[in-house]
Amino acid sequence: MSNYHIKHLEEYFQVYRKSVNNPEAFWEEIAEEHFLWRKKWDTVLSWDFRKPEVKWFEGAKLNITENCLDRHLLTRGNKTAILFEPNDPKEAAEHITYKVLHERVCKMANVLKAKGVKRGDRVCIYLPMIPELVYSVLACARIGAVHSVVFAGFSSTALATRINDCDCKMVITSDGSFRGTKTIDLKGIVDEALKDCPGIENVLVAKRINSEITMTTERDFWLQPLLDAASIDCEPEIMDAEDPLFILYTSGSTGQPKGMLHTTAGYMVYSSYTFKNVFNYTENDVYWCSADVGWITGHSYIIYGPLANGATSVLFEGVPSHPDYSRFWQIVEKHKVNQFYTAPTAIRALAKEGLEYTQKHDLSSLKVLGTVGEPINEEAWHWYDDNIGKNKAPIVDTYFQTENGGIMLTPIPYVTPTKPTYATLPFIGIQPCLMDEEGKEIEGNQVSGRLCIKFPWPSIARSIYGNHKRYKETYFTAFENNYFTGDGALRDEVGYYRITGRVDDVIIVSGHNLGTAPIEDAINEHPAVAESAIVGFPHDVKGNALYGYVILKDIGEGRNHDNLRKEINQIITEQIGPIAKLDKIQFTDGLPKTRSGKIMRRILRKIAHKDSGNLGDISTLLNPEVVQSIIDNALV
Ligand code: PRX
Repeated sequence: MSNYHIKHLEEYFQVYRKSVNNPEAFWEEIAEEHFLWRKKWDTVLSWDFRKPEVKWFEGAKLNITENCLDRHLLTRGNKTAILFEPNDPKEAAEHITYKVLHERVCKMANVLKAKGVKRGDRVCIYLPMIPELVYSVLACARIGAVHSVVFAGFSSTALATRINDCDCKMVITSDGSFRGTKTIDLKGIVDEALKDCPGIENVLVAKRINSEITMTTERDFWLQPLLDAASIDCEPEIMDAEDPLFILYTSGSTGQPKGMLHTTAGYMVYSSYTFKNVFNYTENDVYWCSADVGWITGHSYIIYGPLANGATSVLFEGVPSHPDYSRFWQIVEKHKVNQFYTAPTAIRALAKEGLEYTQKHDLSSLKVLGTVGEPINEEAWHWYDDNIGKNKAPIVDTYFQTENGGIMLTPIPYVTPTKPTYATLPFIGIQPCLMDEEGKEIEGNQVSGRLCIKFPWPSIARSIYGNHKRYKETYFTAFENNYFTGDGALRDEVGYYRITGRVDDVIIVSGHNLGTAPIEDAINEHPAVAESAIVGFPHDVKGNALYGYVILKDIGEGRNHDNLRKEINQIITEQIGPIAKLDKIQFTDGLPKTRSGKIMRRILRKIAHKDSGNLGDISTLLNPEVVQSIIDNALV
């Protein structure tokens, strides 16, 4: 078990050095000792960031579900793999053992095959956080189909875009979902989306809320009767190491969402190895990540990473505020959760509600706390440390991206001394660097710059589905021969990293990545809108919220501005989803532009940040006169 479970700081440095001095030898050893291969690789790594091209374990043959399921059957068959906690606390939790999970995944895989899904086909999964979501993901992997999970909070338009972009032939959904006291008509959203998705042949529908829904003959099928009739035996499709495993969409600063393409072997090795170390997982622990499987965190740290380690992973359907703000802590107590992983936004929202909710539950089972998805502020960090971990459970502030597949910067609990707001050190095998604006590496400590990664790690996304050129331009062009994250970071006096935020037009709202361009496009569809620009501004719960500057056409004159604001947010909800709604909308006569016509977001950002005294030289703008009027009417 060498190097697989790091236990002290000296060992971390030792293993880290080994992983960067000879990455091939290091990852070969990890891959060799801890996974099940049908055939070993011919080459550990070949790469060229200039092309860009990265291949890990080429020549190897495997199926990731054999690693996540089959190989545990002998020793862990009766151990809980997925612990499903429903939205309604009165509904019983379901302990799905490795044996049962294996059977259900095989049944589901047989259903997919019977409906014509073949190796390499894309399947869109649009499901709430229910066990069928896990079955669907793993069933695709079992037969070599490529899953594309779309977060079930996205609108029908956003869903259609994602279905068409990667040409899915099937959608797996449910009649609806429970979220707190609300129910959401997921099947209705799918039906709406499919009006624009000619490639979809079948829709499989899980029954969750028992609502009346419309089924389209020959296209739509209830899932359960098909599962009931399916065999529990399904031989895994033997995949090549670099065969696609999944596509997952993430926002870019411009244009359509990017379908990040992840492949099989490297992703498996890295998500599994990080899981083991970042959460200090030991055999009988109960681990809970509260993210949605619709995001990379859910893929890597609810499903693949935990299951590859034979862990028990909690799958929570509900929301932290239902039936009240103690729900998370009630679940921790009920299932004696040992590792709890959530987003800073959730921590801030719960901290606001006071301590009565945390104090009534026994949280003594907690050994490790995690955060992910956005910077955590000092106050939230301490609240989490004091009131949830009781200063005994180390906090791992984990930094990574959809594109990375697995955690890149993080403390290792009980190993790396933590520092509030710092993701601290690179994980094993990760070679971060900071770059200045001229593309030169900034050496030394106590410096800040743009965060890049110099060397490939096993779970780096291999491409943007259908658009390798965009992949190259987005990640490998700004800094030659480096992967550029799009984030700014600083390195302190001991070499710890702190993420300072995006340096592009992506805004992280409540941990969700939002590109400004698609939101502006949605707003501009309102008939009264001539032009718009979106910036982020600090928000005490969401981290950032969205501030929109909107120019109305003439017909906007005399219209009720509050109604217009509602209509604009309605369009955004329809086109993208409620997560992209604007908190503030300022109507303005103009937007500051450069002489080449580019909107100067820097100025708009400063105004929204209440920092308009410090705008710098605006005399070179095309229209400097609009700035004062924007400041005068700012909603700050
Ligand atoms: O800006 C960084 C922020 O989230 C972005 C990636 O978002 P996404 O692809 O949706 O993946 C989120 C979950 C892995 C990053 O570019 N981010 C992520 N983790 C952190 C973070 N910012 C600060 N601290 C973190 N721990």
